[in-house]
Amino acid sequence: MTDKIAYTRHDDIAVLRIQNPPVNALSQAVRQGLWDAMDRAEADDGVRAVLIVGAGRAFIAGADITEFGKPPMEPHLPVLCARIEASPLLVVASMHGVSLGGGLEVALCAHYRVAQPSARVGLPEVHLGLIPGAGGTQRLPRLTGAEPALDMITSGRQVKAAEALELGVVDRVNEGDPEAVGLAYTRDLLAEGAQPRPVSALPAAPAIDWDATYEAVLKKGRGQISPATAVRAVQAASEMSFADGMAKERELFMELMGTDQRQGMIHAFFSERAVGNLPELKGVAPRELKAVGVIGGGTMGAGIATAALLSGFEVVLIEMTAEAAEAAHGRISGNLSGALKRGKISQEKFDTLTQKALVVSTSYDSLNNVDLVVEAVFENMDVKKEVFGKLDAVCKPGCILASNTSYLDVDEIAASTARPADVIGLHFFSPAHIMKLLEVVVAKETASDVVATGFALGKALGKISVRAGVCDGFIGNRILATYRTAADHMVLDGASPYQIDKALVNFGFAMGPFAVADLAGLDIGWMTRKRKAPHRHPAERVPTYIDHLCEDGHFGQKTGEGYYIYAAGKRAGVPNPKIAELVAAEQASLGITPRPFTDEEIVRRYMCAMVNEAAKVVGEGIARRPLDVDMTLLFGYGFPRYWGGPMKWADIQGLPEVLADIESYAAEDAWFWQPAPLLKTLVAEGRTFDDMNKDAAK
Ligand code: 3HC
Ligand code: NAI
Repeated sequence: MTDKIAYTRHDDIAVLRIQNPPVNALSQAVRQGLWDAMDRAEADDGVRAVLIVGAGRAFIAGADITEFGKPPMEPHLPVLCARIEASPLLVVASMHGVSLGGGLEVALCAHYRVAQPSARVGLPEVHLGLIPGAGGTQRLPRLTGAEPALDMITSGRQVKAAEALELGVVDRVNEGDPEAVGLAYTRDLLAEGAQPRPVSALPAAPAIDWDATYEAVLKKGRGQISPATAVRAVQAASEMSFADGMAKERELFMELMGTDQRQGMIHAFFSERAVGNLPELKGVAPRELKAVGVIGGGTMGAGIATAALLSGFEVVLIEMTAEAAEAAHGRISGNLSGALKRGKISQEKFDTLTQKALVVSTSYDSLNNVDLVVEAVFENMDVKKEVFGKLDAVCKPGCILASNTSYLDVDEIAASTARPADVIGLHFFSPAHIMKLLEVVVAKETASDVVATGFALGKALGKISVRAGVCDGFIGNRILATYRTAADHMVLDGASPYQIDKALVNFGFAMGPFAVADLAGLDIGWMTRKRKAPHRHPAERVPTYIDHLCEDGHFGQKTGEGYYIYAAGKRAGVPNPKIAELVAAEQASLGITPRPFTDEEIVRRYMCAMVNEAAKVVGEGIARRPLDVDMTLLFGYGFPRYWGGPMKWADIQGLPEVLADIESYAAEDAWFWQPAPLLKTLVAEGRTFDDMNKDAAK
């Protein structure tokens, strides 16, 4: 027996304690250990029941995800589950912490289940591009009926113990030490003369309208295939014998195991956890954070203040005038009342946050006790320098001075203070209390404990923090500028913005680039084009058709007209007929004969532009690892999670093929499509972006 299972006897009960920290994933050694321990219990004289418990913080978090994609090793989980369920002994599971995926599937093979009130159960396999593969799709509906099981499996959500009891997933909820609770329950069951009760022997769940459910789930998945596939597996549980249903589940599970989506989603799972794990931060203690200052209470400042309040920080917000201060307070209260309406905070909490935890002031002196300040004033270097000069004068020593700038040079901002080691960029995304991404922008002189504090703040705010270096736009906005340009070039060459938006939504983006531009405001791009005009290379192609719309005061959604026209109160727009005219006029003036584009070509060019710029960002050290780019695009730019990120997408396509396409596009526009040196090197060495991630983890 492996040391992953501790076997102890308690009178006529054998306790199997799984000990595979941190979360008791079902590695091969755990599976083998459980198998051997079942054999031992069945051969152990006088044993009448088996109690399975988990050591540490969880019952079992599921199959060991690190084993996916490698040759499967015996004993396979479905076979182990069947073996546990078929035991002549009474098998009980006592669940605490999480029982997820294969973990819940093991519990479903026990004959009885007891859970702690704080326990959570779920089948989250769809989030990994899979479906449950050890009987979850066959046993759960036999306990709950088809619809609750479909809800749990297709959403992957975690269900709390009370709901699990109501649904019939667990038999009892009892508080206490999981082993003690489990033993007491098992003794009760033995005393009552309870017999083994295999879930597989329960009647199948009655049929529902499977095709309609499949279509609805497919649509909701926006290109993600695993949730809809799960519907077919649950259908099999209803229509087939248990054995045939299990075979169907296995077939669908193995099919999904071979997909790009499974690779992409598992890459996202591990990258999300690796992104904050930087060698430079090992052993570096962050500074203490209690009170946070925010300068500027516009869109971003109010969002940042809201996020900080919701995470328990005291907030001091500075605005320029009493009216602006009042408006800022109103914005923050508005954000918080959203949280109140959604049940995220109570009325009492709302009152405390808006009245006690938040101070809005027009005097910089109010900042004398804050531990960190985030500046979110207008995007103008002179204004930022003036603000940082004032902050330097009033903030206490050791206070961190951060800028939320989107593009400006954080080194230059830092140099305007006498404490450049305390200056950092903290780039939030709009709306800042909702979007998960935080770019931690490390300037030349930023101290490492200031970087560590940036990451600690991100964690406290529930964000995914990515380390970025200083350049125009850092990681995300720099790459965005490039793939947006690729989209603009396609418009000049003959694709319509609407075809491009549609092709990219079909690829999996939440919105296409032109709908996003309307939402963000066309004035931003217009101003950026003006700012960059003096330094532009003569070979750079810059469309100007949209500037004419801006000159007439049309800035997208906020003015009701942009690429799309928006009826009052409507978020979705209809194509603006002026765009086709403006584009045609520009094509005529440039002597371009428009050509048709297929949706595939649109996606390929857009993605190649993204990957090429991302490879430059990594090659220059602006992003430390390819996975940092992937997480930036996933959490800040609506990149479809099931592709894992642009770098993972490129690995899956094959880097030689991506480079070949970039080189072929360069034949038309050598300035824009200059291949990234890193991409060429990787292709020459036969390596991938993921190989770089792995090297960085060594
Ligand atoms: N396999 C391997 N490693 C796992 C794992 C798993 N199933 N679950 C978590 N880990 C690792 C994490 O990668 C992390 O490693 P690190 O410390 O080296 O970064 C460590 O365990 C701790 O995880 P978290 O940092 O995520 O800890 P939290 O306490 O925040 O969350 C959790 C714990 C809720 C269990 C969360 O990790 C989680 O959701 N895990 C995935 C659960 C899951 O998807 N299970 C289904 C697996 S697929 C399956 O079972 C197929 C079956 O049907 C055949
Ligand atoms: P905004 O125009 O909505 O708000 C700026 C606020 O700063 C205004 O309320 C103004 O009164 C105040 N302000 C200006 N100078 C000030 C001073 N000296 N002292 C105190 N308050 C002052 O701008 P927004 O959109 O909130 O942007 C702020 C910063 O955040 C910019 O640097 C921008 O580039 C950056 N950013 C913006 C994002 C967005 O989507 N809007 C996303 C990420 C970053």
